[in-house]
Amino acid sequence: MNELKRVTPLPEAQEDDGSNPTANATLGDVIAGRLSRRDVMMGALAVTAVSAIAADLDIPSKSHATGAATNSTPSFRFAEVEAGVDATHHVAEGYDADVLIRWGDPVLGDAPPFDTAKQTASSQSTQFGYNNDYIGYFPLEGSSNHGLLVVNHEYTNEELMFPGIAEGRTRPEIQKALTPEQILTTMMAHGGSVIEVRRTGGKWTVVANSKYARRITADTEMAITGPAAGHKKMRTSADPEGRLVKGMINNCAGGMTPWGTWLTCEENINFYFDGKDPVGRSADAAALARYGFGKPWNPWARVDPRFDMAREPNEPNRFGWVVEIDPFDPKSVPKKRTALGRFKHEGAGNVVNKDGRFVVYQGDDERFDYVYRFVTAGRVDASNHAANRDLLDAGTLSVARFDEDGRGAWLPLVHGQGPLVAANGFADQGDVVIHARLAADLLGATKMDRPEDVDVDPATNRVFVMLTNNSRRKAGDINAANPRAGNDFGHIVEIRPDGGDHASETFGWDILLRCGDPAIAPVGATFNPATTANGWFGMPDNCMIDPAGRLWVATDGNNRGKTGRTDGVWALETAGPARGTSKLFFRVPEGAELCGPYMTPDLETFFVAIQHPGDSADDSPSMSTHDKPLTRWPDFKDGMPPRPSVMAITRKGGGKIAT
Ligand code: FEO
Ligand code: CA
Ligand code: CA
Ligand code: CA
Repeated sequence: MNELKRVTPLPEAQEDDGSNPTANATLGDVIAGRLSRRDVMMGALAVTAVSAIAADLDIPSKSHATGAATNSTPSFRFAEVEAGVDATHHVAEGYDADVLIRWGDPVLGDAPPFDTAKQTASSQSTQFGYNNDYIGYFPLEGSSNHGLLVVNHEYTNEELMFPGIAEGRTRPEIQKALTPEQILTTMMAHGGSVIEVRRTGGKWTVVANSKYARRITADTEMAITGPAAGHKKMRTSADPEGRLVKGMINNCAGGMTPWGTWLTCEENINFYFDGKDPVGRSADAAALARYGFGKPWNPWARVDPRFDMAREPNEPNRFGWVVEIDPFDPKSVPKKRTALGRFKHEGAGNVVNKDGRFVVYQGDDERFDYVYRFVTAGRVDASNHAANRDLLDAGTLSVARFDEDGRGAWLPLVHGQGPLVAANGFADQGDVVIHARLAADLLGATKMDRPEDVDVDPATNRVFVMLTNNSRRKAGDINAANPRAGNDFGHIVEIRPDGGDHASETFGWDILLRCGDPAIAPVGATFNPATTANGWFGMPDNCMIDPAGRLWVATDGNNRGKTGRTDGVWALETAGPARGTSKLFFRVPEGAELCGPYMTPDLETFFVAIQHPGDSADDSPSMSTHDKPLTRWPDFKDGMPPRPSVMAITRKGGGKIAT
């Protein structure tokens, strides 16, 4: 979600400050001890120093089973794109970037063609949704040329979707001006899509009338499973059993499981709920405030009373979960897996641990919120997908504490242990997962600078955590893992589980990179000096470890006048003397962020999601609108608004990406 847009109007006033009132691990005195020799060295970065750091970190001599370079050979080979800002996308020379599917294109066989003047809830429910975010690719019969793409639709930009609504209005005024049909249309533009895709003659297309095609919206029926299923805090007038909920909302990043399911993660759920003073009136007032409710943005309560918290005080508890979906069966019922906790989930980076248990790393994207880990009780059965069907319903959710000495601990959110008892509002494990933030507060987790995507390199067991930014962190609030006050550009933390065991209670960690322009000394960026003026970035958001074990970082927020460059996807070296070297591979059109980077198993196709193209991140009546947009990407036709789209990047003449 574009940050400035979210800062200016109602919703982001809350996120600006964060909603975490605890004193957990923001103590200024911590940093004094941990402004470590390593950080100092990184600040004064030189190639020799980086080599020493790499040795100090005990990075394995092989960074990956496929032999990605750890010595002086860079892992990525491509001609870097020039950073900048204009109306279209740019990809590295020698590559093609083709639009695969756009907002409004048909997903289901009966979908009408996109007509910007006549979008309805009915048409939108059969067409590709808005603001594509996470992308996952599931091969069909093992193919890297034929498979299913799963795509999240995170949120909507009404000012860019509907003609004639935005001129002369501020964003709050636009929300008020939406008709009921337009509001319902935005609800159908949320959720996710499953599409069948095929590469023939080197080009990718969407398979029409696929038996797999599916739209999931804010209205799709889903089951609630795990410790919160049937809990009294999950019961509503429409669902007195507390086991069925309609829809998923604000699905940001996600993950794929080795048993062939899609994990899709609900993030900023609070902005969809209205109601007169619900926070002040509810028995769960503290929890509602901790989750940021009480500052509505999307006017959904006008058309659907379940989004009115005064009428349905438990409905908010039914959102903010990781949803598991079987993309191979369009009739399957999506499941909200409550054992993984309720918060503003960014993604679900995962790995099969060496003992066979499944481990999911999760960021809670809010200023001063936490990094979580879920370890299943059972083990993955690699030979029988169906045996893993309910694996995510039992296990241990933990939250991270980063200590000043480069060590850390996973603190279990288990009812009955430590402070998680009835006297503190946790009568059972359902209470713990529904109010996971409150439980984590009591355990003393470390307050982070907006944890976004987390991804695992299964070959080295290193875990990379994107911390996008936190301009509200004050000098007195810094800690070892969040060492910059006024952190406008974010940083990346690397976690190394003890013994390569992702179920271990303890871990080592370090800061891989402090982001921002290294040419501006006070920013304190720590890119390797081999990084060019095009190669640095700020605001890391989504990330991907590709099948060769290489880290790609996508950004959200560069395009705000702060950096003179749009968002994009950068290739970041993580090992050897090149560690900390970054190169720009692809950049987005003006106003967009880059989401969902995903690479096919054969390394030949790089899928990217272009989210909110043309968004001026401006609250004034002169903002970019449907009728007067910053860009009409990707169609560039008069009268056609910018359209969020998924693109397929391939090498001209074929071949593996960046090799
Ligand atoms: Fe939806 Fe945290 O990015
Ligand atoms: Ca984002
Ligand atoms: Ca994101
Ligand atoms: Ca973000």
